[in-house]
Amino acid sequence: MAGISNKIDRDSFSGKFAVIAATAGSAVGLGNIWRFPYVAGENGGGAFLFVYLIIILAIGIPVMMSEFVIGRAAQKNPYGAFKTLAPKKPWFLIGLMGVVAAFMILAFYTAVSGWTLEYIYQSASGNLIGKNHEQLTNMFDTFLTGSVRPVLWFMIFMSFTGLIVMSGIRDGIEKYTRFLMPMLFVILAVLCIRSVTLPGASKGIYFLFHPDFSKINSKVILEALGQAFFSMSIGMGTLITYGSYFPKNDNMASSAGFIALTDTLVAIIAGLAIFPAVFAFGGSPGSGEGLVFITLPGIFQQMPGGVIFSLLFFVLLAVAALTSTISVLEVIVAYFTEELGMTRKRATGTATILVSVLGVVTVLSWSSLGFLKLFNKNIFELLEFSTANVMLPIGGFFIVIFIGWFFGKKRTTAELSNEGELKVRYMPLYMFIVRFVAPVAIAMVFLYGLGFFNPSEKQAAKTDPTEVVDSVQENSLQAVLPEIQDDSLK
Ligand code: PFF
Repeated sequence: MAGISNKIDRDSFSGKFAVIAATAGSAVGLGNIWRFPYVAGENGGGAFLFVYLIIILAIGIPVMMSEFVIGRAAQKNPYGAFKTLAPKKPWFLIGLMGVVAAFMILAFYTAVSGWTLEYIYQSASGNLIGKNHEQLTNMFDTFLTGSVRPVLWFMIFMSFTGLIVMSGIRDGIEKYTRFLMPMLFVILAVLCIRSVTLPGASKGIYFLFHPDFSKINSKVILEALGQAFFSMSIGMGTLITYGSYFPKNDNMASSAGFIALTDTLVAIIAGLAIFPAVFAFGGSPGSGEGLVFITLPGIFQQMPGGVIFSLLFFVLLAVAALTSTISVLEVIVAYFTEELGMTRKRATGTATILVSVLGVVTVLSWSSLGFLKLFNKNIFELLEFSTANVMLPIGGFFIVIFIGWFFGKKRTTAELSNEGELKVRYMPLYMFIVRFVAPVAIAMVFLYGLGFFNPSEKQAAKTDPTEVVDSVQENSLQAVLPEIQDDSLK
């Protein structure tokens, strides 16, 4: 009977806008802004985008809907959700893995989020002005390998995350994502307009969109699938947790569609805000940290009003990251409150402290703890690798198997149709996807991520799985660049 009182007391989002803002907030994050544009540009531009959109529609949205179904049907955190929907069966292990993954993701993701605060500070205090590429590289290295500042920024970012989550779903997460998400869009629009109107911007637009279908092979398709998973926050129970706060009358299929659309649009617009500017000023479009914390600060300086744009860019990154970190912390807090009986305040405090311990160790893996390595990866890289390439695919795989083969069509239809209120003509297609298409596709990404299944001949000889992933993620742009520069784009 605890279930009934739970349903009455349970905090929830107030309506459609809140559902979209919070969940799109989770999906839109660092993955959209620094990873997507680069991966798209490198893997066939417009052609990659085409493949990516098909994957989002055919696999991403159905998997997202499956998480929503589990969460809203059970009204629980991921662990409790599987316990409720499949009592006395081992499915709860998937939920438990999600809670563990949440700790791990928060540790490294919040570390990077902390770097964005350092760069907000450096932009605002004018310290980036007048520095050349080498000086900016040194500056980033010195910051990263220092012990005090990265730890401090990590703690500050984690405290913001904790404070929002502590206030609850409606008074915390909903209240903040309601204004942070529109703010993110406004900043992104300003940066995008600035970038595409620069003289010479067309090279960047070409890099991002030029459809080169000859680049599309199985490696690129699998890469698109992996990117879609991380970007949509699928596979670790974040969306089960948020789904548990959706109003009972929410049309979850339309919410999933809208969130996927927002996530994809932000990724594309981020590309339009970054690459035209990079090419206009003759920079080279590297990936990840190098692009965001070294190349871009260099480019902002060459622009009129660069200080403002630099500041806006790092605020954009921080906002995108914050709406994602709160969704991950909420997974742990929901677990602590519902399974360990803690109050929200105590649960958030405990979770924040525990994550901070792991987070500080992670931050220090770039300096004093750098000697701790496994498979040639430091703690930061190990956490990133084991969550994104191992735990998310395993979680996603079992989530669709659960819906397709265990929870079944009848109960899933009841949940997606809001007990018969909504038409769900897509059900046969949806069930086909969650039973067959999605599990097979996810299994392939998983094996590929670990290096067991590698369609690219070039990498077939590699045996060290971590090396394979590195080379997949950091495939040198040199191969693409001469091609772009040779092409006359006038
Ligand atoms: N979707 C986020 C991004 O693209 O940056 C990352 C993320 C958030 C992954 C939440 C997983 C998660 F549960």
